[in-house]
Amino acid sequence: MKILIVGSGGREHALVWKISQSKRVDKIFAAPGNPGMNSLAEIVDIKPTSIIELADFAQTEKIDLTVVGPEQPLALGIVDEFNSHNLKIFGPTQKAAMIETSKSFAKEFMRKNNIPTPAFKTFNSSVDALDHVRAASFPLVIKADGLAAGKGVFICQKKSEAEAGIKEIMLEGKFGKSGERVVIEEFLAGQEMSFMVISDGKRIMPLATSMDYKKALDNDKGPNTGGMGAISPAPQLSRDLFNTIMKSIIEPTITGLKFENKKYKGVLYAGLMITREGPKVLEFNSRFGDPETQVVLMRLKSDLVDVLEGSADENLFEVNVDWDKNVSGCVVLAAKGYPAKYGKGQKIQGLERAKVMGLEVFHAGTAQVKNSLVSAGGRVLNICASAPTLKETMDKIYNGISFIAFDDMTFRRDIGWSRR
Ligand SMILES: Nc1ncnc2c1ncn2[C@@H]1O[C@H](COP(=O)(O)OP(=O)(O)O)[C@@H](O)[C@H]1O
Ligand SMILES: [Mg+2]
Repeated sequence: MKILIVGSGGREHALVWKISQSKRVDKIFAAPGNPGMNSLAEIVDIKPTSIIELADFAQTEKIDLTVVGPEQPLALGIVDEFNSHNLKIFGPTQKAAMIETSKSFAKEFMRKNNIPTPAFKTFNSSVDALDHVRAASFPLVIKADGLAAGKGVFICQKKSEAEAGIKEIMLEGKFGKSGERVVIEEFLAGQEMSFMVISDGKRIMPLATSMDYKKALDNDKGPNTGGMGAISPAPQLSRDLFNTIMKSIIEPTITGLKFENKKYKGVLYAGLMITREGPKVLEFNSRFGDPETQVVLMRLKSDLVDVLEGSADENLFEVNVDWDKNVSGCVVLAAKGYPAKYGKGQKIQGLERAKVMGLEVFHAGTAQVKNSLVSAGGRVLNICASAPTLKETMDKIYNGISFIAFDDMTFRRDIGWSRR
């Protein structure tokens, strides 16, 4: 089989790595990929958002299955484009991906289907939104409706912050069209958790559980990021809670979307808050989490291609998956300043040593400049390992990291240790 992976981050490197272990796969392409994938995949110079070019490429190269990493191509309708050319692709259609690409759609959908989520109101005008927050109780949360690269959510403690948030989103147009509408919702206290399943539109296959660390600094301080680390399994997820999430959230979501003619195929990722009243949905994503995918795939013993193809072909019932009992972990090495301004082009050293020590090194934001590997993004590398216990796993990772260096390298030192 020939496989095409769309995307260039650590998540996509992990997908390439896992797919390369499949006996069914002869060749992997990655568009646009990254230097870490060089030995496993052929790099193709097409942007993830160039969906027509990608479909042309898949047709010319006779790609058997395309796997989409990031959300932007899904939002643009890459799955519809591929389907219209009879090209097999893993992921939801543009309509089904609305569960991520429009927060107001997702909220209305949850209200209709009795899926637990914070109380909310949607606003199309800044005047109405400002009126609302002047009379509201705090804290509250303001969210740009559309995709905003993780920057469109404002947690507001008081009126002035809410007013500033509405101005930034709706009047200054910081997020373009994504900010023409806002959702204003109730603030929930509790423990945050993410939950990923794969669906073929009807059947649901839960992935191994994981927990990610979103804040930039140790002890969950500092700003939100794309994710600074992850572990699998999620230590605080009991069997009871797992069943509640499946019954009250995941199953009604897949069934409800099918009912609305938005059959959901691909990864459904629920961002949850575990409150005293039970789990509630903060948002859905329509794709694999990053870096949760890295730790989940480290534990997958079965052939990932069978799973992805089962979803695309709507025969997930024929697929069984086995998970390794080991605990896996991932620590993100970032460039100082991330998620705000950061530098690039710093020479990276010590990766060979880390690999010899048995670590998996996934590239997230790197570039090859002549003979040197250099940093090229906010999140630069994902250092991953697995071992029988969480302690052994994290010791192995942090020990390996001590041999890796680039100027301005920064990372959280408490992945796997702090309990939120
Ligand atoms: N209603 C809420 N109550 C408390 N915290 C929230 C709420 N909604 C979002 N958050 C926090 O903001 C973060 C980002 O919100 P989310 O809805 O996941 O949007 P996105 O990932 O698109 O930026 C969450 O991970 C969570 O920490
Ligand atoms: Mg989120």
